[in-house]
This record gives sequence, C-alpha cells and structure tokens, in this order.
Amino acid sequence: MNAITLTVNGTPISASVEPRTHLADFLREHLSLTGTHLGCEQGVCGACTVMIDGTPQRSCIAFAAVCDGADIRTIEGFDDDPVMGELREAFSSHHALQCGFCTPGMLISSRDIVTRLGAVDERTIREELNGNLCRCTGYVGIVNAVHAVAKDKTPATRQEASATIAAPMAVPAAPVAEKPRAAPAASAAVSSGQGWSEMSQSVPITAPPEAVWTALKDVRVLAECLPGAEIEAFDGRTARGRMSVKFGPIKASFGGEAEVSFDEAARTGLISGSGRDGGSGSQVKGELGFALKEDGSASRVDVTLRYRVAGPLAQFSRGALVQNLVGHLASLFADNLAARLGGTPAATRPKELNAFRLLLATLMSWLKGQRG
Ligand code: FES
Ligand code: FES
Repeated sequence: MNAITLTVNGTPISASVEPRTHLADFLREHLSLTGTHLGCEQGVCGACTVMIDGTPQRSCIAFAAVCDGADIRTIEGFDDDPVMGELREAFSSHHALQCGFCTPGMLISSRDIVTRLGAVDERTIREELNGNLCRCTGYVGIVNAVHAVAKDKTPATRQEASATIAAPMAVPAAPVAEKPRAAPAASAAVSSGQGWSEMSQSVPITAPPEAVWTALKDVRVLAECLPGAEIEAFDGRTARGRMSVKFGPIKASFGGEAEVSFDEAARTGLISGSGRDGGSGSQVKGELGFALKEDGSASRVDVTLRYRVAGPLAQFSRGALVQNLVGHLASLFADNLAARLGGTPAATRPKELNAFRLLLATLMSWLKGQRG
C-alpha cells in the first residue's frame, strides 16, 4: 500500500492505495464520487474524464498513486461553476443527453473546450470532443449545446492548461552505455492551447559538442535513438518515416513526411512534418526544434516539441499522462544518444513504443523511490 495526499474538489485527502488502483476506482470506491463513470476502462470512451492539474484526463488509466500531490476536479466539483451551469442548461435545452452515462465526461471536456478556446466553430468542437463517445444521443445536440455556450466566450488569456512537470523519473531498462552518459536530470515544461501541446526540455549529455552535433545532423541516428521511430527514406532534406505507439489496447502507427533543416553556425535544427495513423484515422502535425549548447566539456541539447493530434486519439495528446510519456521518451532518447556516442548501439530499442509498459516501469520506479 502507498500513502498519497491529493486535493479532490478543493478538499485535501490523505489515503493509502494499492499500486494498481486506478484514479477512477479511488474516486468512486474510496470517496463515493460516483459522478465519474466507468465505460470501457481502457482509455477509449472518455466517460471517466476528470480534471487533473487543470487538464481533462482519463481517470480509468491513471494510477491513483501517481496522482500523489495532484489537484483533481470531478463533475461534483463543478456544482457552483458558472460555465458548467451554462453547459448543463444547454445540454438540457439542446437534447444533448438521453441515458446520461457519457454526460459527466462530456461536460468536463466541453467546459475545457469553452474555457480554453472560447468561441469555436462546429468543426473544432467535433474535433476536440472526438475522444468522448456517446452511445445513445448522437452528437448533433451535444455539438449544438457546446456551440451555444462557446459563442460569447473569449479564449483563456493565459494558457489555463499550462503545467510544469517535474524532471522525468528514471525509467529502468533503457539501453545505456557506461560512458559517455546522459546526466539524469532534465527539465521539462508543458503547455497546451488552441489544440497544440508544447514541451521544452533541456537534456544534458556528457559528450563533446562536436560529436553530439554530428549525431544530431543524422536523422537516421536520431531515429535509431527514439523508441518506435523508423526512417524509410531520407534525401538530405525530406524524411519519410513512421512512429509506432502502443498504449494499452490502443495501437497507432503514424506514417508521414518531415522537412529537415539545420543552421550550422547556430548549431540548431528544425524537423517539421505531419503523419496519419491508418487504423484510427488520427492525424498528427509536429515541429521538433533543437539547439546544441556547450556545457563546459560536455553538451546540452535544448529541445522544443510542438504537436497537435486530430481524430480519435486527440484527447490522449493533452493529458499529463502522455506529456509525462513524452518527457520519459526524451530521457530514453538522451540515454540512447549518449550510448551511441560511446560506441554502444541502442541494441534493445523496440520497434514499437509500448507506452503502457513505460508508464508502468515509471510507476514502479517512483514507488521504489517512495519506499527508499
Ligand atoms: S472508462 Fe475511461 S476512457 Fe472509457
Ligand atoms: S447520453 Fe447515453 S451514452 Fe451519451
């Protein structure tokens, strides 16, 4: 059992939970907050959506232990919220619910859209809501209700959903060499707005800048260091490739093209592209910018990643779960790059990034740290 302290609907809660307890079960069974519904329990339907540290997330695939210190807001915590009041009335007047099973998650996602984006068009509402499934109403009434509430709203003046996440926890089983080695600490900042998520990360690498720059300019080497990435063709400017991710029952393989450019004098680079997952029809657009800095005899790589996912997997892209995953991915990338620079190939690099295993490993690592 693990002791956790978190805030739920403004009330500090201390509890003891099993490592495997999901946040949704904790909310429903320990706190009797049954407004959080469980549908698929696989992260697909969105019925269990709650706010975790200001962003809507699936509580059925978030471990309660990992939410230690988090600020959670469930549908019960919006009783006196004026925007939620407007949405409730609009859902009723636009016939946006029948059985109501999807409604708590639908309302929480809708409030996030209205407060984050302001007056949005119907297409954007459909895009933003496509991670919430309704089995009985159909979506016309739901979209009309959100549209009616959003029409006189302005987007958040500051990025409401911004958050700074702690340096990624150590992830076991990363293929690393003894020397040179990525220093363990890396800082990351995450923010999201207008459907884009942005992450900045500073990755220290104990290898000379010349060696790191040579490696950074070779997209095939970069792909070899990134779990799940594969380069199919590269003509010096345009790369065609694929990124494969498995998240529990969800499998996605984004294939697409990216433009690659470097500034030798400034030692910066930009990879900008888009891709599509044939299975789900989800699309991703992204930009990866990096700048190499000298850090004494070692190096530091400042990385900025901007990405936007549209389609059924869109909701996953904004949650802290995925943003933490991107942070861990950057750590794995840094370790693999350091190993590569030390002459050790990243031998155990999987063909597919198993996000769930990665997060589980992270949880176990975090729990060990708590006990220590
Ligand atoms: S119950 Fe969590 S996404 Fe379906
Ligand atoms: S109203 Fe019944 S599932 Fe949406």
